[in-house]
Amino acid sequence: MLRKRSAGSSSRSKTLLPDLKTFRTAVDALRTKLDGECAGVRDADGLEDLRNRYLGRKRGSVTLLFDQMKTLPAADKPAAGQMLNVLKTKVQEKLAALEESLRRPATRGPEIDPTLPGERLAWGAAHPLRIFQREIESIFEEMGFGIEDGPEIESDYYNFEALNFPPHHPARDDWDTIYLGGDLLLRTHTSPVQIRVMEKRKPPIRIIIPGKVYRRETPDPTHAAMFFQVEGLVVDRGITFAHLKGTLEHFLKRLFGDKLKTRFRPSFFPFTEPSAEVDIECLACGQKDPACRVCNGTGWKEILGSGMVDPQVFKNVNIDPEQYSGWAFGMGVERIAMFAYGIPDIRHFYENDLRFNRQFQLK
Ligand code: DAH
Repeated sequence: MLRKRSAGSSSRSKTLLPDLKTFRTAVDALRTKLDGECAGVRDADGLEDLRNRYLGRKRGSVTLLFDQMKTLPAADKPAAGQMLNVLKTKVQEKLAALEESLRRPATRGPEIDPTLPGERLAWGAAHPLRIFQREIESIFEEMGFGIEDGPEIESDYYNFEALNFPPHHPARDDWDTIYLGGDLLLRTHTSPVQIRVMEKRKPPIRIIIPGKVYRRETPDPTHAAMFFQVEGLVVDRGITFAHLKGTLEHFLKRLFGDKLKTRFRPSFFPFTEPSAEVDIECLACGQKDPACRVCNGTGWKEILGSGMVDPQVFKNVNIDPEQYSGWAFGMGVERIAMFAYGIPDIRHFYENDLRFNRQFQLK
């Protein structure tokens, strides 16, 4: 064992070679090399070979370094010795650990006591929004709808133009768009996926499109810069407004109960003609409270936008509007979930507060 001495006692012999710096580099290199070689050892023979090569009495790399240390300037020897001792301990520890891990498979059986009670795992759970989205999906799946998705970064063409928003049309202002530069933007609604699907596929089409959308909003109890929508699209021969109405009424009743009252109000979207907004009765006040904060006393709550696909949209995707017709809808997932569960602030969904999240379990 080398005796310790206080460092820096002399720098006289610094000119002699090898110096402490080269020595340290050699020590570090050996340590790194050992790590690599340990990983390659598969059995006891390999381990023995490794032990010899590092710690062998005559030729072991560590042993050789001890010899080399003797040629260092006297002033450097204490530091070098300390370095080497640390290295040697490291090597011994590594080899011991390696030996232990090679032995482990044989001893594994007795180490496990199968009579002990199992450990309870912490289960993750789906986020409330995901649960609600699945509920929406399953109702449409029952009716034979497929599920599609599309990119969240969109071009102006898909988000607006192909949906019959001409450039500079004032209707674009209704969607507070986050532009990314060039032609790109974050999609403001899931409607562009209608275009992508119709470009790829000929009717009949019967799909829903759940997904994230983005708007330039300042967050408040009813607004977020990112939220979820579910889009729907049906295209076939002979599709009428009656299909739109029947399907959406059925969907809302499955979601909110058989007795639910709904109403369709004329509206405007560039990509549908005619367009309708769908309201459902206010479940918070039962249409009875003129001061109700959920429906502002109107008795109704707007739940989604819909309409018959505009013939111009069909032309944009080379579907002949003389042969085919269709309807579409789009709704905000948070908005409906808030209404269904009486959640007062949209921001609860994104705060990851488990006290909130745990209130919603899969049925
Ligand atoms: N994309 C509309 C929005 O974000 C919602 C919408 C309305 C979608 C009518 C539709 C539709 O497919 O037909 O406000």
